[in-house]
Amino acid sequence: MAIDRREFIRNSTMAGLGLAFLPNLAFGSNSKQVLNVGFIGLGLRGTGHLRNALQRSDINVKAICDISKDRLRLAQDMLKKADKPTALEFGKDDYDYRNLLDLEDIDAVIIATPWLWHTPMSVDAMKAGKYTGVEVSAAMTMQECWDLVNTHESTGSHLMILENVNYRRDVMAVLNMVRQDVFGELMHFRCGYQHDLREVKFNDGVHAYGHGVEFGEKGYSEAAWRTQHSLKRNADLYPTQGVGPVATYANINRGNRFISLTSHATKSRGLHNHIVAQGGEDHPNAKLKWKLGDIVTTTIDTANGETIIVTHDTNLPRPYSLGFRVQGTKGIWEVDGNRIYIEGKAEKAHRWDDADADAWLEKYDHPLWKRFGAEAEGAGHGGMDFFVMNAFVESAKRQIAPPLDAYDAAAWSSITPLSEASIAEGGQVQQFPDFTRGKWIKRKPYNWIKDSF
Ligand SMILES: NC(=O)c1ccc[n+]([C@@H]2O[C@H](COP(=O)([O-])OP(=O)(O)OC[C@H]3O[C@@H](n4cnc5c(N)ncnc54)[C@H](O)[C@@H]3O)[C@@H](O)[C@H]2O)c1
Repeated sequence: MAIDRREFIRNSTMAGLGLAFLPNLAFGSNSKQVLNVGFIGLGLRGTGHLRNALQRSDINVKAICDISKDRLRLAQDMLKKADKPTALEFGKDDYDYRNLLDLEDIDAVIIATPWLWHTPMSVDAMKAGKYTGVEVSAAMTMQECWDLVNTHESTGSHLMILENVNYRRDVMAVLNMVRQDVFGELMHFRCGYQHDLREVKFNDGVHAYGHGVEFGEKGYSEAAWRTQHSLKRNADLYPTQGVGPVATYANINRGNRFISLTSHATKSRGLHNHIVAQGGEDHPNAKLKWKLGDIVTTTIDTANGETIIVTHDTNLPRPYSLGFRVQGTKGIWEVDGNRIYIEGKAEKAHRWDDADADAWLEKYDHPLWKRFGAEAEGAGHGGMDFFVMNAFVESAKRQIAPPLDAYDAAAWSSITPLSEASIAEGGQVQQFPDFTRGKWIKRKPYNWIKDSF
């Protein structure tokens, strides 16, 4: 397959010239030039967002909130090093974030707290009229999914689910290919969260990754809260990193929607084996019975006749992969193996291209990456964190609906309670509620193929 690499390089270089203009993308009179932002939750993820915010001249970090004094101090140090004014501090108790929300001059908030706080904080933030960004997943129960949608509708405040994987370079190039009909009519997708989290779920209470088999009150960072979910729930606990990009490819909630799912779980071995291997058979945690099956497999049916297989695989030794596969009537891309087959374009019938998928991904490099790729480097997770922040800030400055909204947050997050119910009922089919209440039929897809946000 002949693809002009010189053209790709030229485009990338020209993109570099455009960076001097960043920001401000908001020249319109209806747009704020600078956004006053409050940060709720300044753990590993929240400080990552803060770091990216400090790179931008259109964010004023007005207030920060965390129940950990250490995290507040660290965040203030970051502000100081960036020559920014000290932020107002909150966090004297679990509900002090509400006092941050009472500040009238805060335009937007970014919530990066443990999962069980996401919906309560988002609901309060929308009620306070703040443009709300919430980390993934957004909700843990069906009621919470509805709470997000209902609050968005009753207040008119916007909610963006901050799914950074939607902005990964290959994911966006494939979106560009999908929109340009390279794969034909879409039929089938695979995706999932396949990430060995054993050293995230357990640590020594001091380091974030490993060095021990403690969790809960004795754990640090995600081990302090995430691990409990593996103990109590057998479900796809983290669906949005895989399903977010696929939902965008398939126009979910915008001409299409999730209809139903079935889920199955393997037995649970990985976490117990890890505790025994690292902490010994006599460690008290070796007695625990983990509810989460090591591999949870969910199959979703969509209104437009596609199927999506979503995998949650966090307890066993394995390399990291979100396992994307996009298949249509004309061809197929698979992230594992970085391979592609497009009928009529492939060198040999019935065989993956000898070359990997890179030439295709370069040819269809997304306009956003072409323009801001150099700026994004170093922003975290290979650059995608830059773009998710950019989309949030540019949407919030204009007070317009974000690319990934409350309906997306609800539909994607609902996979957790629905998969749990299906597994508990021996794989019974579960129906997705229509969170858009019929509007999915008329809603237009977000205009993704542009170089602004
Ligand atoms: N999109 C991604 O790539 C990505 C990566 C990592 C984490 N995350 C998500 O980000 C969120 C945070 O994860 P993390 O790794 O930063 O966890 P973390 O445990 O390091 O940070 C959570 C922070 O929230 C604070 N907190 C807890 N309760 C609070 C309350 N009531 N008020 C104020 N602060 C409170 C804690 O003190 C802690 O500092 C999670 O939802 C996680 O799934 C997303």
